Amino acid sequence: MNIILKIQRYNPDTDKAPYFQEYTVEAGPNERLLDALMTVKRFQDGSLGFRKSCAHGVCGSDAMRINGNDGLACKTLIKELAENDGDMITVEPLSHLPVQRDLIVDQDQFFEKYREVKPFLINDEEVDGQERIQSREERMVFDDTTNCILCASCYSACPVLDENPNFLGPAAIAQAFRFNADSRDNGIDERLQILDTPDGVWSCDNHFKCTKACPRSILITKRINQTKKVIKDKRGE
Ligand code: SF4
Ligand code: FES
Repeated sequence: MNIILKIQRYNPDTDKAPYFQEYTVEAGPNERLLDALMTVKRFQDGSLGFRKSCAHGVCGSDAMRINGNDGLACKTLIKELAENDGDMITVEPLSHLPVQRDLIVDQDQFFEKYREVKPFLINDEEVDGQERIQSREERMVFDDTTNCILCASCYSACPVLDENPNFLGPAAIAQAFRFNADSRDNGIDERLQILDTPDGVWSCDNHFKCTKACPRSILITKRINQTKKVIKDKRGE
């Protein structure tokens, strides 16, 4: 069938404002949105800008707004978006990050916030033997959060960032949880200095939009609330 891709275009060097451009593309129901974008790029308009790498939901580089929802173009099938000949699919860049060109956003602030929470094991204690042993049960406490591919879909979907651009954001907090909950880690007090702030976990209003957007099914909102509880327990509240 023929679908119409309505794609937001913007080149900050030459355009005064973003605008939409429409492309008619032949696409089967089991093809992915990424395939349709590649068809446009290869055969209709080589100037269209978007990121992609693995094409299999692993690298996180092709996150975008698809019919108003955030997700990966390589994990979204045409049949999820269009049923009939002539159906239109609207594609926009992620929200809350500056557009560099078309569907490509500048991810710097997303990664700066991620780095702020120290997303690595902190432990200066001597290792007894050759490695730090962890049981299966200890690992399962935070297992889902290890699947993050840093795609920023949750960051785009979060309504809190509409009002407070300084909010750490869902991915950074989920990754802070990942290391705070790791039985081998001793860095929780350092991370709580960042998390226990107005722009940290306390900005989250439990909209659950991040959890719905996450292509890796990470229980982001739950992890944020667990972090709030850890803070309250430490305060004795
Ligand atoms: S938590 Fe999910 S949506 Fe957010 S960056 Fe990680 S994989 Fe993407
Ligand atoms: S291109 Fe790698 S996740 Fe989609």
